[in-house]
Amino acid sequence: MTAPILSPTPDTVDRAADTLHRGGLVAMPTETVYGLAANAANGEAVARIYAAKGRPSFNPLIAHVASLEMAQREGVFSPKALSLAEAFWPGPLTLIVDVAATGTVSDLARAGLESIALRIPAHPVAQALLIAFGAPLVAPSANPSGQISPTHAEHVAEDMAEKIDLIIDGGPCTSGVESTIIDARGARPALLRPGSLAAAEIERIWPGLIRPALNPDAPQSPGQLLRHYAPSAHLRLNADAPQAGEAYLGFGGGTATLNLSPTADLAEAAANLFAMLRQLDANHDHIAVAPIPNQGLGEAINDRLTRAAKHA
Ligand code: TXA
Ligand code: MG
Repeated sequence: MTAPILSPTPDTVDRAADTLHRGGLVAMPTETVYGLAANAANGEAVARIYAAKGRPSFNPLIAHVASLEMAQREGVFSPKALSLAEAFWPGPLTLIVDVAATGTVSDLARAGLESIALRIPAHPVAQALLIAFGAPLVAPSANPSGQISPTHAEHVAEDMAEKIDLIIDGGPCTSGVESTIIDARGARPALLRPGSLAAAEIERIWPGLIRPALNPDAPQSPGQLLRHYAPSAHLRLNADAPQAGEAYLGFGGGTATLNLSPTADLAEAAANLFAMLRQLDANHDHIAVAPIPNQGLGEAINDRLTRAAKHA
C-alpha cells in the first residue's frame, strides 16, 4: 500500500484522526519538520512507528499535545517548567518533565523512562489534528532512523510512503530544524538538543542554562547519538570555498551550488538546511559547507551539520 498525500482540508483531518484511532500512522506537518504521528496510548501503534523508521527502541518519542491542560495530565511541571511552557507554547520547544500519575502515554513511547517529552506544536494543521484526535500523539520526525528529517511532504513520500497510512501536505516547514529540547526537571534548565528556539530565548525566561548536549560522550537525550542526521555524501564543514569535485552549500554572498541564505539570515538557513542537504546528497558524493556563525539558530544548524558530517 502507498500512503496518499492529502491536502489539509477538514475532511482530511477527520480521516487522519480516524486512522490514528484505529492504530494507523499519519505523517503530519509541524512548524519544525514533518512528524510521523501515532496514538501515544496505543503500544502497538507506537511499535509500528519504530518499525517504520527502523529506530532503536531505546529512543523515546515526543508526545504532542493540544493544550497545556493536556500536557499537565501527562507530565508534572515545576513552576519554572510551567513558565517556559507558557512563554513558548505553541512552538518549537520540547520539555522533559516527570511523568504524571494520570499519564496515558505508553511505556514503549517513553522507552520505559520515568520522564516524558512534551510539546504543543504551532502548525495549524498539527493543532487541528490534535484537537480532532483529542489525546496525545507521539511523533518522531517522519524519516528512516539516521537519515535527514523531512521538511516537505514529498520528502516523506519518498522515504516512507510504503510504510505508513496517510500523509497530510501542509507545505514546507517554516522553521526547518527540530524543536529545542530542555530537561526542565532540575534546579537549572538543561539543553539536551539545540533547536528551532534559540538558547538565548530560554535564558530570558529561566537563566542558568546548562549544556550537556555539548558533551557527546555522555548523551543525556538518547537522540543525541553523534551520527544521526546523515546524508550519504561526505561533508566537509567550515569550508570557505569548495575544492575540486565538491558541491558547495553556501551561506551569505558568493558563488555556491546552493545557498542556505544569500543574505546570511539564520532563520532562512535553518528552513532550507535539510531540503538543500537532501538535494545535494542526491547528486554529489562530496559536499563542502560554508561556515555558519554559532549564534542564535546557528547553534542548532551547526549541531545538525556536525552530526551529518560524522561517518561511521
Ligand atoms: O521538532 C521536533 O521535535 C520533531 C517534530 C515532529 O515535533 N520531532 C522530533 O522527534 O524531532 P524525534 O523523535 O526525531 O526526536 C525526539 C528526541 C530524541 O532525541 C529523543 O531521544 C528525545 O527527543 N527524547 C524523547 N523523550 C525523552 C526523554 N524522556 N528524555 C530525554 N530525551 C528524550
Ligand atoms: Mg529525528
